[in-house]
Amino acid sequence: MTIELAVIGGTGVYALGELADVESHQPITPYGVPSGPVRIGTYAGRRVAFLARHGEGHSLPPHKINYRANLAALQALGATRVLALNTVGGITERFGPRVLACPDQLIDYTWGRISTLCEEPGSAVLHVDFGDPYTPALRRQVVVAAAQAGVALVDGGCYGATQGPRLETRAEIARMRRDGCDLVGMTGMPEAGLARELELDYACLAIVANWAAGAGPDVDEVITLQDVLDNVSAAMAGVPRLLHALLVQAGR
Ligand code: HPA
Repeated sequence: MTIELAVIGGTGVYALGELADVESHQPITPYGVPSGPVRIGTYAGRRVAFLARHGEGHSLPPHKINYRANLAALQALGATRVLALNTVGGITERFGPRVLACPDQLIDYTWGRISTLCEEPGSAVLHVDFGDPYTPALRRQVVVAAAQAGVALVDGGCYGATQGPRLETRAEIARMRRDGCDLVGMTGMPEAGLARELELDYACLAIVANWAAGAGPDVDEVITLQDVLDNVSAAMAGVPRLLHALLVQAGR
């Protein structure tokens, strides 16, 4: 049965509170097992899937996540549209803590991650178009849903994906700002590229947890896990309303 929307939760987002009549699935995919069970249930009257990217209990660091298995599992269960929730740091002025954003570009600084389906011998070589790394139609639906729900959302921005798991140096963030990045996170790639290879519609809802190193008004600020979690939970307050609007959106 088709799934209206698959949601991948990032740091601080380990469940969708309102998901009802939940069934758990953990398919084995050609790429291995996903981070944890895929919870499928009803949300706003629609079938929705949820997967915690880091595993339940946040056991997987960004570079150890099996991004291929996660997306392949969602697809095998019937998903065609994926909304990725990504906890990020803010670099430029409009992207301070607790902001929600729907970026439209990304730069990949990660390394050593399996970043394509063309890894196995004999697999077809794919050179997918990635000029718009997020599916424009799904991005538009997210932006419209936020407006309908009265949830503040920054439309656009460039997501820089870093390797982690450590946070960045001030010099690294200064370089990313010069490169044009507005946001920094550790899980945006290879997920977005793999989604394109799998022909899944994919958009990112970025949740700003902190000013990135050396960004924001207090350049000496030390980032603590507690601040990150507090800001994520505050920023998440509007997300259920946004999801409702996205799921009931007319005219799709
Ligand atoms: N850098 C990278 N990833 C992050 C950050 C950050 O400052 N905050 C939350 N995820």
